[in-house]
Amino acid sequence: MSRIDLVDLNKSYGIFEVISGLNLSIEDGSFTVFVGPSGCGKSTLLRMIAGLEPITGGDVRIDGNRVNDASPIERGVAMVFQNYALYPHMTVEQNIGFSLRMAKFGKTEIAERVSEAAKTLQITDLLKRKPAQLSGGQRQRVAIGRAIVRDPQAFLFDEPLSNLDAELRVSMRVEIAKLHNKLGATMIYVTHDQTEAMTLADKIVVMRHGAIEQAGSPAVLYNDPANMFVAGFIGSPRMNFLRASASANGVVLAAGPVLPMPVSDQSDLRVGIRPEHFIVQGESSRFDMHVDVVEYLGGTRYLYGTAPSGEELIVEARDLGSVRAGDSVPVGFQPDQALVFSGTGDRIRTERQ
Ligand SMILES: Nc1ncnc2c1ncn2[C@@H]1O[C@H](COP(=O)(O)OP(=O)(O)OP(=O)(O)O)[C@@H](O)[C@H]1O
Ligand SMILES: [Mg+2]
Repeated sequence: MSRIDLVDLNKSYGIFEVISGLNLSIEDGSFTVFVGPSGCGKSTLLRMIAGLEPITGGDVRIDGNRVNDASPIERGVAMVFQNYALYPHMTVEQNIGFSLRMAKFGKTEIAERVSEAAKTLQITDLLKRKPAQLSGGQRQRVAIGRAIVRDPQAFLFDEPLSNLDAELRVSMRVEIAKLHNKLGATMIYVTHDQTEAMTLADKIVVMRHGAIEQAGSPAVLYNDPANMFVAGFIGSPRMNFLRASASANGVVLAAGPVLPMPVSDQSDLRVGIRPEHFIVQGESSRFDMHVDVVEYLGGTRYLYGTAPSGEELIVEARDLGSVRAGDSVPVGFQPDQALVFSGTGDRIRTERQ
């Protein structure tokens, strides 16, 4: 286990700055997830922590020690990649034990560690097979096994599940959560999948253009995003952003409702409301939505349509079997669940928020 501190971290490729002045503390034994759009620097940052990518400026500290110039082995971190990178000619057993053989561990010690890792990952009966004889999920377990045997201070995962089908992703996600509970090791995990981020993380770090937009618990990022970018990135389907302006009465949505919030006079506002915070046929702050498409998902359904302002809208409607495409339905929301943003995307907090 170990604590990791990133201090004023910079990374440039030539004149192109990929990571700029990044500061982050990762607690000992925590599960931290990096999310952000493609190209924002997630893999680069992970590789800098791992020791696979030279650092242009700032420090990576593990348990207080500057490790900028240390090798991955010296740092005590192990990385698991998206493409597994298993040796095709070696058996599962040999793949898992490879780094220990390289590090000149004794035969008995290697056998014990491999057997223990295989037990944890429930792949004991696959040890004699070659990677080509495994399913995607099994290969992923072997890749994790290779990291586990090294007994690292920290595990770094770069989109480890993105090659798996939807069902397998869910079960491997649960396996990774169990593994974290069992090993208690610090884990840093990069993903595009925001369900993975929400369910696995103690702390989610939302990145954009090589910088942190916001870092916090899933609940804080979901309920109290610092800006429109984070609000739009966390949550699926995405938060609705509706045009509004401030008046003496409060925030007036182009769609009609008025939020009784004192906001200083600004004409270009956005009001964010999550699909699940709408109440179909609700009483408060309501307007009519024209429904274009009804998406039925079993336990719930999503209505896709337009507000009276012509703005597109996604609304979650539970238990409402009678709504059909082409209908007009009144939708409402609780004013205190609506978030207000400036035209540039900064959060405007009201007294209650
Ligand atoms: N060796 C390199 N030389 C120059 N630019 C690079 C190099 N490696 C990465 N980059 C650039 O750095 C930026 C960040 O890349 P990175 O791989 O960290 O993104 P990412 O957030 O992991 O994206 P994705 O979600 O697509 O995996 C990108 O613009 C990329 O093109
Ligand atoms: Mg990447």
